[in-house]
Amino acid sequence: MVTRSRIARRMDHIPFQAIRSVGEEVAKLEKQGKRVIHMEIGRPDFDTPAHIKQAAKDALDQGWVHYTSNYGIPELREAIAEKLRVDNGLEVDPNTEIIVTVGTIEGILMALLATLDPGDEILIPDPAWTSYQHCIRLVGANPISIPLTEEHGFKPRIEDMEALITPKTKAMLVTSPHNPTGVVLSKEELEQLADFARQKDLLVLSDEIYEKLVYEGARHYSIGSFPGMKERTITINGFSKAYSMTGWRLGYVAAPKELIGAMIRVHQYCTVCATSFAQKGAVQALRGPQEPMYTMIKEFDRRRLMVLEYLSQIPEITCVRPQGAFYVFPSIKSYGVPSVDLAKYLLYEAHVALTAGTFFGTYGEGYIRISYANSYENIETGMQRMVEALKKFKKINKP
Ligand SMILES: Cc1ncc(COP(=O)(O)O)c(C=O)c1O
Repeated sequence: MVTRSRIARRMDHIPFQAIRSVGEEVAKLEKQGKRVIHMEIGRPDFDTPAHIKQAAKDALDQGWVHYTSNYGIPELREAIAEKLRVDNGLEVDPNTEIIVTVGTIEGILMALLATLDPGDEILIPDPAWTSYQHCIRLVGANPISIPLTEEHGFKPRIEDMEALITPKTKAMLVTSPHNPTGVVLSKEELEQLADFARQKDLLVLSDEIYEKLVYEGARHYSIGSFPGMKERTITINGFSKAYSMTGWRLGYVAAPKELIGAMIRVHQYCTVCATSFAQKGAVQALRGPQEPMYTMIKEFDRRRLMVLEYLSQIPEITCVRPQGAFYVFPSIKSYGVPSVDLAKYLLYEAHVALTAGTFFGTYGEGYIRISYANSYENIETGMQRMVEALKKFKKINKP
């Protein structure tokens, strides 16, 4: 028996990943033979495009089985620098300003470890991807919630952020397109955030993992490309979502060389380098044909519209129209129950797995996240079941 004292205090407030634990309840139902529709998952359901897989297979056959440079293979760093210049308007030196990481999440943790001291504060959107707050706590820093409210289109407001600044505020985190709301910030909105960061002398961590998944003409902008922002921005991105490469565990950070100099020491003592042959695949992801990605985006858009159509049939539900990522985040406040209870009801009654909004932060209460990273047919079945189950729920819960 391992005693409690064996576990570091810092782990006291670090829970097991919540979305995965929903998965455990789902697994129980599936074991009983129930057909659960998965709409809780945050990964594309597509295969990695064939040319990317082939490049990794070839690399293995060619002996790419050893450590690479800690920064990543030069060929990939060059491809990333070119991508950042063309797509994002960021001028980055591939030799000194990029590190290839083991997923975007390593980039986030590295950035936090390298820049925040215990007790420092970082402003993060709330709701937001759950891992941010836990990574921040692991570092000993404090996440400070910027409320994202439906009333304001789930967009951060400068006046709210002003009120949260203390002498300990050192950084802010921006995610656009956003998980779980699917909201994409406009150029003007990002410019306002950039102004704020400059005024308050904040470092900016910009998580751009969903940049390619935008719809209805929405455009992604990199905050680090705005005037005076390069020196204070760590741009974090990866291959998981745009190329359906979640299992490859590949991402990258781009930042001024002084920040890279600190982050590389975290990376060096944690993972050494990203997987060698996976990096060869990633070169092809950036330099090879982009059609498979556009086909995937088109399909996501078709599903997004279908989910919105079903939600519009439920008068009790309101919804900010998402223009990015693969999530919809409708309000379920009118049902008068905590989002966890409604998600559980839908799981057991309709066999539809969704994520309760509270998993994404305090301000996520009253919402559920629907992920459309599942086949059109499955999602349609899930949405039909959901509509029926919610009608029933309304009858049962009539005051
Ligand atoms: C906002 C956000 N950032 C980062 C990640 C993780 O990306 P990666 O697989 O590259 O670590 C996710 C995954 O769901 C995410 O939603």
